[in-house]
Amino acid sequence: MLTGEKATLLATLYARAIESAAPDSVLHDTMAAHAIANLDYDFTKVGIRPKKDAIGVALRAWHLDNWTRDFLATHPAATVLHLGCGLDTRYYRVAPGPSVQWFDVDYPEVITLREQLYPPATGNYHLIGSSVTDPGLLARIPTGQPVLMVAEGLTMYLHPAEGTALIGQIVEHFGHGQLIFDALSRRGIKLQRYNKAIQAAGAKVFWGIDNPTELEEIDHRLRCTTALSAMDPTFPGPHLKKLSFGYRAFARLAMASRSLRNVAVFYRLDF
Ligand SMILES: C[S@@+](CC[C@H](N)C(=O)[O-])C[C@H]1O[C@@H](n2cnc3c(N)ncnc32)[C@H](O)[C@@H]1O
Repeated sequence: MLTGEKATLLATLYARAIESAAPDSVLHDTMAAHAIANLDYDFTKVGIRPKKDAIGVALRAWHLDNWTRDFLATHPAATVLHLGCGLDTRYYRVAPGPSVQWFDVDYPEVITLREQLYPPATGNYHLIGSSVTDPGLLARIPTGQPVLMVAEGLTMYLHPAEGTALIGQIVEHFGHGQLIFDALSRRGIKLQRYNKAIQAAGAKVFWGIDNPTELEEIDHRLRCTTALSAMDPTFPGPHLKKLSFGYRAFARLAMASRSLRNVAVFYRLDF
């Protein structure tokens, strides 16, 4: 079975599967529920508390799905680079139009597992088994259309030099597009021992980003249009009340604290 950072995908998959069973589910990720049922694994060990954590993970996916849909609405002919896809079913949830080329990328072991659990990738949907830090990765992806890089729960597992090199190479290779992802701050990296899913997987996080300027400095073409704290009450939109009272109280305190406000942030950058 998977270990380290690869094993963290089991936590997010489990969370989305649990949330899909809620009568008022946000994500309706029934494929995640199906995948869980077909994996011989004790999911009680992945560090997700069904009643407390599942909705937060589902809302993170919902939010990045919405940003993906926004980009594809204005760029119907585009390339989507879904990096560190794990067993996430974003391709099926978003159901991109016929002019979108979609690439799901993760380590080869993860892609092999995807192939066992989900329908074969055909047509404009492609799976690539590779580390995102492999210098040969982008050469396998055609240019000529604007690109959307979407990466959920990935950047923190990269070392800072790997993350900045990846972003710089994407800008250089495609020339035009958007990057959307979530990131931890340096404080968030320091607090990793309190993250049960990371601990349960035996994973480590490395890359902390404290402000959008650090990202814009990677390449002069990058402009950050949104930096939205995961603690911000506007992030879950109409679904705010689905988060527990305790979590909402903590998020209010975190928003008032300079060092906790940006502990987890959604970034959107154009180039
Ligand atoms: C927390 S999981 C998130 C998976 C998925 N995005 C989701 O939300 O369910 C982190 C994912 O990043 C992948 N990952 C971490 N480092 C990677 C790398 N260097 N290359 C490719 N994938 C990587 C792991 O294999 C894992 O699937």
